[in-house]
Amino acid sequence: MNDRDLVRLANEVRRYAYAPYSKFPVGAALLCADGTVVTGVNVENAVNGLSLCAERVALFKAISDGKHEFVRIAVSCASDHCRPCGACRQVLYEHAPNLEILMGNPEGEFVRTTIAELLPDAFMLKR
Ligand code: THU
Repeated sequence: MNDRDLVRLANEVRRYAYAPYSKFPVGAALLCADGTVVTGVNVENAVNGLSLCAERVALFKAISDGKHEFVRIAVSCASDHCRPCGACRQVLYEHAPNLEILMGNPEGEFVRTTIAELLPDAFMLKR
């Protein structure tokens, strides 16, 4: 799937977000190395701290479907170009240190970056 369609899809799935507390729906579309695309939305909870961001939902869905290699992820929210939060950066980095990120807006425009750029000098568990 090309970049524009990936951002468009991230925008489309935003309608499925469960965000009654923040009222800030976010959508994500993750392109896997095998060409498949897995989407995600933020899923919030009345108990603080239990909410999951769209990026992590997409990644965890993909991993639990047996996917292990990822090319790029598009993220979209209602305001500006959506920037993945710090927690998502750490989680994305562990599974895809070369991941490309398209930070989209509702108009379908996007800013291209990489996880390495967003999370320089990332933590890695070395034993
Ligand atoms: N959120 C995401 O899903 N992804 C981001 O990149 C930023 C924030 C969600 C978390 C929460 O449900 C809502 O947006 C407001 O922070």
